[in-house]
Amino acid sequence: MTPAGSLLLAKDLRKSYGSTPALDGAEFSIHPGEVVAVMGPSGSGKSTLLHCLAGIVTPDSGSILYNGRELSSMKDAERSALRRSEFGFVFQFGQLVPELTCTENVALPLRLTGVRRKEAERTALKWMERLEVDDLGGKRPGEVSGGQGQRVAVARSLVTSPRVIFADEPTGALDSLNGERVMQLLTEAARSASAAVVLVTHEARVAAYSDREIVVRDGKSRDMMLEHAV
Ligand SMILES: Nc1ncnc2c1ncn2[C@@H]1O[C@H](COP(=O)(O)OP(=O)(O)OP(=O)(O)O)[C@@H](O)[C@H]1O
Ligand SMILES: [Mg+2]
Repeated sequence: MTPAGSLLLAKDLRKSYGSTPALDGAEFSIHPGEVVAVMGPSGSGKSTLLHCLAGIVTPDSGSILYNGRELSSMKDAERSALRRSEFGFVFQFGQLVPELTCTENVALPLRLTGVRRKEAERTALKWMERLEVDDLGGKRPGEVSGGQGQRVAVARSLVTSPRVIFADEPTGALDSLNGERVMQLLTEAARSASAAVVLVTHEARVAAYSDREIVVRDGKSRDMMLEHAV
């Protein structure tokens, strides 16, 4: 597939924090259903790249096309709606809401888009079964293990059937056995739903679950797919 079929396509992204350049000409592309690992040392700009691609951080310059549309040309409300309906997120420490049960946490993104409670929880349960955490539904995040919590977070990222899942070190807080299981279930679930996954990691064994790797160094990344297509 060529970059023309890219779901997300970024070129020459630049972003500085004060005098620190976090991104210095980064490139990125992903196709529907593809799992791309973003690798590189600490401080190289991986999270900044992910946040720019997800429309959370606005780059100083460069272009990001989602389905052929420039993110920077969208109004804030439109970008937020896109994030809620088409993007899913999994972060390093799960970031579940401690006051809600696991089922309520998974159902939350649907509730935020106006889906009724019963229906939202029914859909939540379907994803929790898939991630093998359906028996934890009534528990709160503080009452489950780290690996279970991450699987609940993965279920939550999938519940709206997003087109893209952004995962920033999703197994960072887990031992290798739990990390492998979370990665297996995340990539299987994403593939079954034809969702693309942008996976930030610095671990080779996590990147092994991807179809392709993009390496970020000093805010620069080269996307071999883009290069081969010219
Ligand atoms: N909000 C911020 N304010 C100031 N500097 C920032 C901010 N976010 C990132 N940076 C700086 O930008 C650079 C890239 O940071 P980023 O978080 O993208 O790195 P990373 O590759 O995700 O690192 P890690 O693997 O440690 O998570 C670093 O020098 C960092 O200190
Ligand atoms: Mg980071």
